[in-house]
Amino acid sequence: MKTCIIFHSYTGITRGIAERVKAACGGELLEVQPRQAYSKLTAYTTGCLRARRGEADPIDPEIIDAGFSDVIVLGTPVWAFKPTPAINGAISALQNCDGKKAVIFATCGGQAGDTTTVIKKALEAKGVKVVAEFTFNKNDVTDEKKIAELVAAVKAAGPQ
Ligand SMILES: Cc1cc2nc3c(=O)[nH]c(=O)nc-3n(C[C@H](O)[C@H](O)[C@H](O)COP(=O)(O)O)c2cc1C
Repeated sequence: MKTCIIFHSYTGITRGIAERVKAACGGELLEVQPRQAYSKLTAYTTGCLRARRGEADPIDPEIIDAGFSDVIVLGTPVWAFKPTPAINGAISALQNCDGKKAVIFATCGGQAGDTTTVIKKALEAKGVKVVAEFTFNKNDVTDEKKIAELVAAVKAAGPQ
């Protein structure tokens, strides 16, 4: 199975889960970075405002070609109850994704709002079918059972 694991992570938590998926399922780990990095202050001011508005940051890499992959995994931190502007940028940058399956996850302090719903809608608008979604909060981000469920969902989404 070829898996493309796309994520944004500001403080490392989302990266940690993405790395667990990669360790269990293989594939390509693709960390997106906003071209203009956020400071602690601008993350909570500009970043949250842009997240609330559903805006997409210009990111590196500029283009994400999912053509080679069987399954797309997409992970985001929650900012102001929404996906981050960088992950919105990642969805905009996705190419050759029509007809692919995706498993999505969000990590948050405890209030994810409608983060996964927003991602699901944006991916579905690009022809991607979201087959499973997970939200981790600060209490269950190290929950091995939940991580195993995420890994199982990714494996189940691949060719059988
Ligand atoms: C700018 C900013 C906004 C945040 N907004 C929320 C929020 O609305 N709800 C929530 O539960 N956690 C919020 N958090 C906490 C993060 O979602 C949480 O710590 C997440 O796991 C961080 O992932 P990361 O380490 O991959 O960046 C916020 C954190 C930051 C830095």
